[in-house]
Amino acid sequence: MSRRYMVAGNWKMNGNRAENAVLLDGLLAGAGANAKVEILVCPPFPYLDSVGARLQGSAVLLGAQNLSEQDKAGAFTGEVLGAMLRDTGCGHVIVGHSERRALYGETDELVARKYQAAQKAGLVPVLCVGETLAEREGGQTEAVLARQLAAVLDLCGADSFAGAVIAYEPVWAIGTGKTATPQQAQDAHAFIRGQLRGRSAKIADSTRILYGGSVKADNAQALFANPDVDGGLIGGASLKAADFLAICAAA
Ligand code: G3H
Repeated sequence: MSRRYMVAGNWKMNGNRAENAVLLDGLLAGAGANAKVEILVCPPFPYLDSVGARLQGSAVLLGAQNLSEQDKAGAFTGEVLGAMLRDTGCGHVIVGHSERRALYGETDELVARKYQAAQKAGLVPVLCVGETLAEREGGQTEAVLARQLAAVLDLCGADSFAGAVIAYEPVWAIGTGKTATPQQAQDAHAFIRGQLRGRSAKIADSTRILYGGSVKADNAQALFANPDVDGGLIGGASLKAADFLAICAAA
């Protein structure tokens, strides 16, 4: 089954109105040239409206970086409901990024509830999974990936992955300049796809699995050439249009 590449930019906690305008001008000038790749940008919450307005009429998709696990509005100070993200024009939302897991205490169970809330709101979740350096060195990579995936598969079922996106992000490669080798990425992606296959062959074949962790223009092609790598989730290199477009061109 052929899967369309996706290259997603996670802006993390970066940008302001002026910088976003420059980034989007560059991005929109160059995006669209490559029909093989779907492009997604995930700005911080305060800029979703303005970035969404700028993307109107383009093929670039809008996503958020996080959402509440709640599925109804209410007294949850500081939280953002999935329906609000839909209302601002988001179609996607990143769920379970390792920075949320490590810095904000998001457990596998909470991540699964967020995944469920995203789907209830009509958002496509981009579910992040990945091992730390200690876990890799301890031979725990597959066990960690299996556990993180099982939390979502058990709560939401395999069919919930229809249309969803998974991002494999080895924590030791995020923002470190240390990228997984193409073989390490392929091995992890094949393992993730195998976990899906254990539940549904159709879902395993159709689900896009992105690689994230220090992807740059000069390593993207080798990573994306792997049979189970369907694109990338890009942090630092998504903040400059030329860098991000060069990664998209590698797809
Ligand atoms: O969400 C993106 C990833 O955390 C990768 O970040 O490209 O800056 O390593 P990075």
